[in-house]
Amino acid sequence: KRARDQALLDGHEFACKLYEHLLKHTEEGRKALDYLLSRGLRSEMIDTFRIGYAPNRRDVLTRQLERRGFDLELMEQGGLLSRSEKSGFMDKFRDRITFPIHDAKGRIVAFAGRAMGDAQPKYLNSPESPIFNKSRTLYNLHQARPAIRKENTVVLFEGYADVIQAWDSGERRGVATMGTSLTDEHARQLRRMAENVIICYDGDDAGQAAAYKALQLLEPLGCSVRVAMIPDRLDPDEYIRRHGADAFRGEIVEAAVPAVKYRLIYLRKNFRLQEEDGRLRYLRQAAGIIARLDSATEREYYIRELSDEFRISAEAFRQDVNETRISRQ
Ligand code: GTP
Ligand code: MN
Ligand code: MN
Ligand code: MN
Ligand code: MN
Repeated sequence: KRARDQALLDGHEFACKLYEHLLKHTEEGRKALDYLLSRGLRSEMIDTFRIGYAPNRRDVLTRQLERRGFDLELMEQGGLLSRSEKSGFMDKFRDRITFPIHDAKGRIVAFAGRAMGDAQPKYLNSPESPIFNKSRTLYNLHQARPAIRKENTVVLFEGYADVIQAWDSGERRGVATMGTSLTDEHARQLRRMAENVIICYDGDDAGQAAAYKALQLLEPLGCSVRVAMIPDRLDPDEYIRRHGADAFRGEIVEAAVPAVKYRLIYLRKNFRLQEEDGRLRYLRQAAGIIARLDSATEREYYIRELSDEFRISAEAFRQDVNETRISRQ
C-alpha cells in the first residue's frame, strides 16, 4: 500500500514536469501560454504554482508513463489516465491548463485542468484516489502555511486563480477548496493553524451565500472570522487585475468586516428596506443577531449604528435587543 501510494505520487510528479515542459517549451503549449499571459498571470507565477499544459492529443502522458515503467492501471485509478474498452489507456487531461494540487506535505496528489475556451466543464478535477481526498485538501496550503502560522490568519478563497493572483499581490496566506464547499474537515484543519480567518469569496450572489455558510461552519470552532466584500460582483482575481495589488490588500482584505457585521449586511437582502414594514421586520431580526454578542460594548456599537441609520431611538432598539437576550436564556 505504501509502495502503491508512492508510485501514484511519482506518477503525478512526473506528469507535472511533463505538463510544465509542454507549456513552456513546445509549439502546442504556445496558445496555452498566451492564454495565461492574457489573463494577467506573470511567468513567475507559472513557475511558483507549477502550471502546465496537457495537449490536445490522446496519449502523450500515457506513452511517457509506459516508457518509464509505470503501472498504467494504477495511474488510471489515480486519475491521470482514463480507459476505454476500444482504445485502452489514454490521457485524462487533454487541451487543458493544468494546476497541480499538492497535499499539506507539498506532494502532488491531483490536478485541476482548466479549459481555455468554452469547453465544459470549465475545470476538470482529478477524481478522489488513495492519495487525494477532496474534502481534506486545500489548494496552496503547503506554500501558505508558514505565513498562516506566523500571522495566525488564513485567507480563504473560492478559486485557484484567486489564490495565485493574490499570492502575486503579496497575500501569502491564501488557500482554496477544490471547487466544493468548505467542509468540517477543512475548517478543523484551518483552526489548528490559525485563530483568524478572512473569507474572501467572489462578489457575486453565489460567492456571498457560500461565504455565509463558511462563516457558520468556522465560528463554532472558535475561529474569529471576517468577511471581505468585493464590489461589482468581481472575484479576487478580477479585482486585482482591475484595481491593483495595493487596493486589494488595503481595501478588500484589510477592510474585511467582522462576522456580525457581515450577518447584518447579508440579512438585508431578505427585506424590502425601502418600505416601512420591511425596515421594521429587518430591525427585528437584526436585534436577534446583535443579541447573540457576548460583549455589551459590541452590542452597543451595532445598536448605535443601526439606530442611526434607520433613525430610530437607540433606547427602544436596545430594549428589543435585551428582550431577545432574556427570552433566549
Ligand atoms: P476562472 O474562470 O478560471 O477565473 O475560475 P474561477 O475560480 O473564477 O471560477 P468560479 O468562480 O466559477 O468557480 C470557483 C471554483 O469552483 C473554481 O476555482 C473551481 O475550483 C470550481 N469550479 C468552477 N467551475 C467548475 C467546473 O466546471 N467543474 C468543477 N469540478 N469545478 C469547478
Ligand atoms: Mn523543459
Ligand atoms: Mn464564483
Ligand atoms: Mn471566480
Ligand atoms: Mn475568476
